[in-house]
Amino acid sequence: MTKSKILVVDDEHLIRWSLEQNLKKQGYEVSTAGSGEDALRLLQEDPPDLMLLDIQLPGMNGMEVLEKVKDLEDEVIVIMVTALGVLETAVKAMRLGAYDYINKPFNLDELAIVIKKALETRELKREVAHLRAVQPKRFSIDSIIGASSDLQHVLSMVRKIAQSDAGTVLIQGESGTGKELIAKALHYESGRADKPFMAINCAAVPETLLESELMGHEKGAFTDAKSQKKGLFEMANGGTVFLDEIGDMPMPIQAKLLRVLEDRTFRRVGGTRDIHVDIRIVSATNRDLLQAIEETIFRNDLYYRLQVIPIFLPPLRERRGDILVLAQSFIENFNKEFGKNVRGISQAAEKILTEYDWPGNIRELRNVIERAVILEDDEMMEAEHLPRELVSRAVPAGGSPLVFALPPEGIDIEDVERELIRQALESSDGNQSKAAKKLNLGIDAFRYRMKKFKFL
Ligand SMILES: Nc1ncnc2c1ncn2[C@@H]1O[C@H](COP(=O)(O)OP(=O)(O)OP(=O)(O)O)[C@@H](O)[C@H]1O
Ligand SMILES: [Mg+2]
Repeated sequence: MTKSKILVVDDEHLIRWSLEQNLKKQGYEVSTAGSGEDALRLLQEDPPDLMLLDIQLPGMNGMEVLEKVKDLEDEVIVIMVTALGVLETAVKAMRLGAYDYINKPFNLDELAIVIKKALETRELKREVAHLRAVQPKRFSIDSIIGASSDLQHVLSMVRKIAQSDAGTVLIQGESGTGKELIAKALHYESGRADKPFMAINCAAVPETLLESELMGHEKGAFTDAKSQKKGLFEMANGGTVFLDEIGDMPMPIQAKLLRVLEDRTFRRVGGTRDIHVDIRIVSATNRDLLQAIEETIFRNDLYYRLQVIPIFLPPLRERRGDILVLAQSFIENFNKEFGKNVRGISQAAEKILTEYDWPGNIRELRNVIERAVILEDDEMMEAEHLPRELVSRAVPAGGSPLVFALPPEGIDIEDVERELIRQALESSDGNQSKAAKKLNLGIDAFRYRMKKFKFL
């Protein structure tokens, strides 16, 4: 990690010196200035992360310096140091954009804590600003790849739903089909994009905790409830709540969710007050909810409430038109990530990719491509870098499964030929012309091989 830079501005030499020693010992990079003018010069030469600024300075005073700093380098955190202990000055400084103030004479430990907190806060702010800037792009509809009409249909629905601000959406689809991606796109394409997107996996949180995670709890509601806590619904106010794996939500909580869906109202665990929120609720599941209803593990009324707007993501094998565009897009991403230069996919590899059934859907495809990009040294992605199970399970256009796979250690092709001749004869009850046909050989060519491999 790079060291944080601190600029100490004080006209007293001894204070400058002792602060410099102390802060350096704590691992900071420290520079010092004896006047406001010097400080501003240093600020422009090499902006620090944080400034300790004395208010009483000869010439330009601390307040004036502060104003200038905020003009020149708004990002710099300024902590004012004042000997006066005058509250008014401190308040004024805060208003001008100082982060905090500390009274002289100060305790060095106390100062260390103030500095550490200030730097941490700034780090967090930067991170939030960065995420705010990149998230919407990262999760926009444009990041969802696919050429099939099925997917295009889903995307046009997503666009409409996002704009309409319809309250409740249910996304269904097998594992790895992109349900979470769609949920995020719904949020980041909507007017709620600058409000929180809060997700929870209902299958991963124990039943006893799930209710308080969603609705929050009051102090003392249960043994561990040491203080009041807001739940997801409250924290997401104005934004979107994503209830993943909703099919695994325990029945008692389903009943409470029903009320939230009906009028966006709930009570914290242990609470007596109704809380109203403005949230869009997007849920997802890879379970067959109708079957779950039959098994009486899912409420019928909840199902109908949830799927005001249903979105169904078909499995990848039912939209094979997406396979190669997705693969190409993943190749580009992984090229960047691993510094590779894979430009395309060989014909053989293309055939395998498009014919495979992809039980793990897009997630599986992504993993396969990641592995192949890492292994590939050529410009074309070759079939040999695809996992074996893809090859052995791929179904050729003709229909019957292709059962060959080259073992990694290699094989003698004559052994393969001998074995095929044997199988052809066996499955044709020794009838040579039938067996020859099965291998697409003329009778002479077949008999030649029978001799060669000593079947005759
Ligand atoms: N159309 C798509 N374009 C680009 N990437 C996609 C697409 N669909 C899915 N992905 C990627 O595939 C992976 C799986 O997607 P996601 O997590 O959204 O699936 P899921 O349906 O929520 O799966 P699960 O049911 O297992 O939670 C993610 O890395 C996601 O970014
Ligand atoms: Mg998911």
